Amino acid sequence: MSAIYRFVILTLMLSLNIAYANVQNHDSGYLQNISKAHASHDNRLEKFDADMSFVIFDLKYNNLDGVKICEIQPGGVSVFSGYDYLMEGNGLVPEMLCDFISKFQSNVWYTEKAICDKKCMLKFASMGWKKVNNVSELKKDKNFIKASLGRVKDPYNLNNYHGILYAKPEEMPLENLREKYPGVIIMDAALYSNIRNKHVMDALLKSSPKLSNLRPISKIYPKKYSKNLVNSIIQDIKSDFFVIKPISSTKGQGVIIIDKDNLDSTLEYILSKENKRALSSNPESAYSYWASDKQALFLVEQFIESIPVEAPQFDNKLYDGTMRVVGLLLYHQQKVKFELLEAHWKLPKKSISDIGTITEKHKSFGNVPHFSHVDTAIIEKVKQQIEEAFAELYELNLSH
Ligand SMILES: Nc1ncnc2c1ncn2[C@@H]1O[C@H](COP(=O)(O)OP(=O)(O)O)[C@@H](O)[C@H]1O
Ligand SMILES: [Mg+2]
Repeated sequence: MSAIYRFVILTLMLSLNIAYANVQNHDSGYLQNISKAHASHDNRLEKFDADMSFVIFDLKYNNLDGVKICEIQPGGVSVFSGYDYLMEGNGLVPEMLCDFISKFQSNVWYTEKAICDKKCMLKFASMGWKKVNNVSELKKDKNFIKASLGRVKDPYNLNNYHGILYAKPEEMPLENLREKYPGVIIMDAALYSNIRNKHVMDALLKSSPKLSNLRPISKIYPKKYSKNLVNSIIQDIKSDFFVIKPISSTKGQGVIIIDKDNLDSTLEYILSKENKRALSSNPESAYSYWASDKQALFLVEQFIESIPVEAPQFDNKLYDGTMRVVGLLLYHQQKVKFELLEAHWKLPKKSISDIGTITEKHKSFGNVPHFSHVDTAIIEKVKQQIEEAFAELYELNLSH
C-alpha cells in the first residue's frame, strides 16, 4: 500500500504546478495511476496481512443518497467532547477505544504525539500502556524490541502480534515502522497517509466503485479565479448548491456552502489576490481562512443534506446535521470489520427554519450544545455501508 500511495502523493505534489488546462484532467490522471497499479498487481504494493485503524467519518445521511462522506480523519488527531456532552459522561470514547484494543493486545506503546485528546492519554496511562517521548526512544525499550522482532505465527490474526505501536507519521512514516518492527501492529498504518489531506482522501475514495458511491460528486481545481473556472465547476458538479473546501484545513475553516447564483462572486472574493487584506479581516473563518491558505488547489463538492434532526435543547427545531462516526476499521483474519464506538449528529449554528446564511444553516458547528443523538436503526445502516465499501478497499488496494 505504502509504495503506491507514496507514488500517488508524489503525483499529487508534482501536480501542484500544473497549468489550468492540465488540471481539468488532473483527477482522471491521478486515478488512472491508482487503477493501473491495481490492474498490474504491481509488486511495489505492500501486503497488509492485518490492520487496525482508528478513524472518524464526518458524513451526511439521507434516505435517497445513503451515506455521503465529507471527510475521514485519523482518530488520534481528534477530541471527543460531543459524545461526552450527549451521554453526560467523561472520557467515554477513550474508554471504549481501550476496551476494544485490549481484546486484541495488552501491550501498547504510544508516543506523546500520537494522541491529542488529553483524556485519551490519561486512559492509556491508566491501562499500564507504555508512553515514549518519540519513536527513537523505542530502541532503548528492551520489551518493545523483543516484541517488535518476535515471530508472528499467523500474520492475518491481530491477536498473534506481540503488541501495538501507536505513533504519528510525522515522527516516522508508518510504513517504515512496519518494516522495522514487524512483530507489532502499527496502528493506523493502512489508512493514515491516505486521509491526512482532503485531496488524497478524495482520490482514495474514488479508487473503487463502492467507495466512490460514498462520496458526493467532487473535483479538485486550481486556486485561480476565472469565469472558466466557475463554468467548469457548474458543469462538473451539477448541483444547485456547492461546498467549497481547502484541501488541508480542519474544524470547518475555509468551508463555504453556497448557491449557484453566488458561486462566481464567492470564488472571486476568496481566490483573487487583491482581496487578501479584506479576506483576512472577515469575521467568519469560513472566509478569512482563504487569506492564509498556502495550497495551489482546492476542492468543490456537491452539497448533500441529511435527514432533518429534531433538537430538544432548541425547542425541537429541525436541523441539518452532519453525522460524526467514530470507530475502528479492522483487517483481521482476512475480513474487514468496522467496529463502531459511537455516532452523533453535529448540528449547525442555525436551524433549518432560522434566518441565516446557507453555511450557518448547514455546516456543522462543533460547539456544545450543538449535538444530537442518532437513531440506532440509522447507525446500523451507516455502519453496514461503510464496512461493505472498505472491504473492497482492503481487498483490492491493501492486501495483494
Ligand atoms: N458535501 C457536503 N455537503 C454538505 N455539507 C458538507 C459537505 N462537505 C462538508 N460539509 C459540511 O462542512 C463541514 C466541514 O467540512 P469537512 O469536510 O468535515 O471539513 P473539516 O476538516 O473542516 O471538518 C462538515 O462537517 C459538514 O457539516
Ligand atoms: Mg469535519
